[in-house]
Parts: sequence; C-alpha cells; structure tokens
Amino acid sequence: MSTVKTSTASALSGAEAFPHRHLTGIAGLQPHEISFLLDEAEQWVDLNRKASKHDDRLAGLTLINAFFENSTRTLLSFEIAGKRLGADTVNMHAAQSSIKKGETLIDTAVTLNAMRADMIVIRHASSGAVQLIADKVDCPVLNAGDGRHEHPTQALLDALTIRRRKGSIAGLKVVICGDVLHSRVARSNILALTALAADVRIVAPPTLMPPDIERMGVTSFTDFDEGIAGADVVMMLRLQSERMGGGFIPSLREYRAFWGLTPERLSRAAPDALVMHPGPMNRGVEIDSVVADDPSRSAITEQVEMGVAVRMACLDVLTRRRRGVPGWA
Ligand code: NCD
Repeated sequence: MSTVKTSTASALSGAEAFPHRHLTGIAGLQPHEISFLLDEAEQWVDLNRKASKHDDRLAGLTLINAFFENSTRTLLSFEIAGKRLGADTVNMHAAQSSIKKGETLIDTAVTLNAMRADMIVIRHASSGAVQLIADKVDCPVLNAGDGRHEHPTQALLDALTIRRRKGSIAGLKVVICGDVLHSRVARSNILALTALAADVRIVAPPTLMPPDIERMGVTSFTDFDEGIAGADVVMMLRLQSERMGGGFIPSLREYRAFWGLTPERLSRAAPDALVMHPGPMNRGVEIDSVVADDPSRSAITEQVEMGVAVRMACLDVLTRRRRGVPGWA
C-alpha cells in the first residue's frame, strides 16, 4: 500500500485554515479547507496503527453521538475517534423511537445543549435536520448523514483513501455508480472530488439519476460500460431500498446485469483502478464479492480505517476554539 501524501493545503494557519464552526456538509468548504482536514487526518492514521492509540487533547470534553437513523460503521467510527482523543463519548440511539421532525427535534437539540455537550454528531433521516440542530446549539455540530443531503465525513474519508493510494486527486477519472438519487454519499463525494479537481463521472439507471446532476460539474452516463472506460477509481453505491417506494428498478438481477460491478466490467477501467464502496454492501447486487474482496483492487476496508482518522481530525479541528488552542481561540 502506498502512503504517498500530497499536501495541497494553503499556508493559512490557525483558524484561517478552517474558519467553520460546524461541519454540516462539503458544500461551502474551499478546496484548501478540504485538503487541510485531509492533512490533519494523516497524523491520526499513523497513531491508529500503533499499539497504544491514545491522545488526550479532548480530555474533559463531552461528545454526544445522536443517531436518529441506523448506522454501524459511522457510529462506531465517531465513538472510537472520540475515545482515542480522550473525550467522554456518549451515544444516543433514537433510530427506533418515534421522534419526529420539527418541534421535537428542536427540543432534542435544546436538551443536548443543556447537557453542555462540547461536540454533537448527528445522523438523521431528514435532509436539513443537522443544520436545524446546528442553529440551536452552542457547540460544534458534525453531520453524520442527513437524508439524501450530505455525509461530509464519508466524502473526506473517501478523498483521503484516494489521495493516499493515488498520490493526488486532481485529474483522476472517478466513476460513482449506482443509486445516486437517494445517496448523500454521492452528493458529498461529488462536491469534494470536483473541488479537488477530479474528473467525476456519474453512472446510474435513468430512474436513479438526479435530473440536473450535470450542474454539479460531472458527466453523466446511463451505460456503465461507457462510463467506466479508463476509470482510475470506481466507487459503487448501495442500492438504498429503504428510501425507495418501489418501482425504481425492474429486479435485482437486472440491476446487477446492467449496473453491478463484475470482474468483466472492472476490466474496462484502468488496470490499476481502485474499487470503493461506503458500506454496507449488497453483495451480488451492486458489487460482486470477487471484486469487493480482492485486496489488490479493493480499498473498502481501508476506507473504514481512514474513517476513524478523518473523524479524529474533524473533532480536533472543530473544538480548537473552545479548547483555546493558540491561533484558534
Ligand atoms: C452510507 C450512509 O449511511 O449514508 N453508509 C455509511 O455511512 N457508511 C451509505 C449507505 O447507507 O448506503
């Protein structure tokens, strides 16, 4: 595995390098701010590979992970990130409860605020819910996925994975394929990768392709064989059946035949193309197991590893002001 690091962040220092209070999305971030977070994450990749993975910079601070939607890797990753940096980390699972949008959500925000949380991580099924909470609390809020809107730390961990494997992101042909219509991962990745000057190609069945996607600076294809030709990175998306009322695809078998990543289809990409998937995977639907499990091609477990490092970087950077770090206070 290559550990090449190409830093593209500007020479801005202190709070000027990342002047935002919250991380609600990739939208609104400058390319150098994205690169700054990726550069910051590198030190945590190194720490996380050591036997003792502890740094106490967030000691005394309270992190609340408020998840109103199910999650395995994102929740665990934020929890590990908080603990490795020494924060008191508490998880609130509201996925099965009947908490609704609107007033109840604001009440929740007020409650978390009254408990004097120092960082709040939120996942919610409604687009915009995270911003609503960010507007009501005194501490930094990090979006762990809101509806179909954004999932910024996923895009950051994907960018870090690509940057470390390929050396840099600018000019790479990155194909994002699958259920783009329902995917906050696709949206945040398009924003981050186009900001970092990748050539982003979107492949989706016509029913799962957002109508004005090309306005985001990407090229769109409904034919996977055409879209994948010569790609440096092939990022597959999960078919988000829970967000579909039905009728979007004829059958899973047909979906795999036209939009699944099979070894034959991957052979049309560049010979050293990197295969990615945010997880959880529908094996045999959007991606075949032989591709997902091929260590020479797949970066899927590395994405999970980078997720912890990226989240440590975000928690550290966003709390610098309240911790009185020189240059940030
Ligand atoms: C993604 C999510 O929840 O948005 N998963 C993740 O965070 N690793 C993608 C998905 O659920 O398909």
